[in-house]
Amino acid sequence: MKIAPSILSADFARLSDDIQAVGEGGADWIHVDVMDGHFVPNITIGPLIVEAARRSTKLPLDVHLMIENPDRYLEDFVGAGADYVTVHQEACPHLHRTVQQIRKLGAKAGVAVNPATSLETVRDILPDLDLLLIMSVNPGFGGQSYIEASTAKLARARAMLDGIGSRAELEVDGGAGAGNVASIVGAGATVVVAGSAVYRHPDGAAAGVREIRAAATA
Ligand code: DX5
Ligand code: ZN
Repeated sequence: MKIAPSILSADFARLSDDIQAVGEGGADWIHVDVMDGHFVPNITIGPLIVEAARRSTKLPLDVHLMIENPDRYLEDFVGAGADYVTVHQEACPHLHRTVQQIRKLGAKAGVAVNPATSLETVRDILPDLDLLLIMSVNPGFGGQSYIEASTAKLARARAMLDGIGSRAELEVDGGAGAGNVASIVGAGATVVVAGSAVYRHPDGAAAGVREIRAAATA
């Protein structure tokens, strides 16, 4: 299992230190939550911060675009150093074209589905994906509670990916932490995003990552 701390919950006045801290704790990827104030209510990070994150770590940058019309910005985010670019099924009427464009730019392509979005809506694009992201909260803010039905959805997604022989990562995002990581991984997730559980950990972000790792393997 890979752990991808979300820098949404980091201290942006010391972003580089906060990125390095999770690296010391054994994080595998850095998750970057991009929000535009349209697709989701919140406004967060743009390509400038991705570029700053790129200079702070060698870990893969996992860029989660919660924005309308992502096609317009794919080149900017890949140019800024994104390794994985994930778009939302709900924001992409021409999802196949968008996924091909991400790959053409040289990044790995992911698609995210909101809690109310059926997995059937992504079945036909699965063979083209490097990553499938199951949202376990309604996107927009860090620190929300995990929606319990997400675990069964992860298991269904696992079966769909296995059914076509896909080696795509299966990622979960929202409300994950030491308390539920074992069941999340048990359901077949390969990448766990964690924001508040890492960056709000009383002993610091590195300890937050280690605690999730220990809980996953316990
Ligand atoms: C939700 C974001 C998540 C979120 C995770 O809109 O996509 O990445 O920041 O944060 P926690 O782990 O605090 O739910
Ligand atoms: Zn995210």
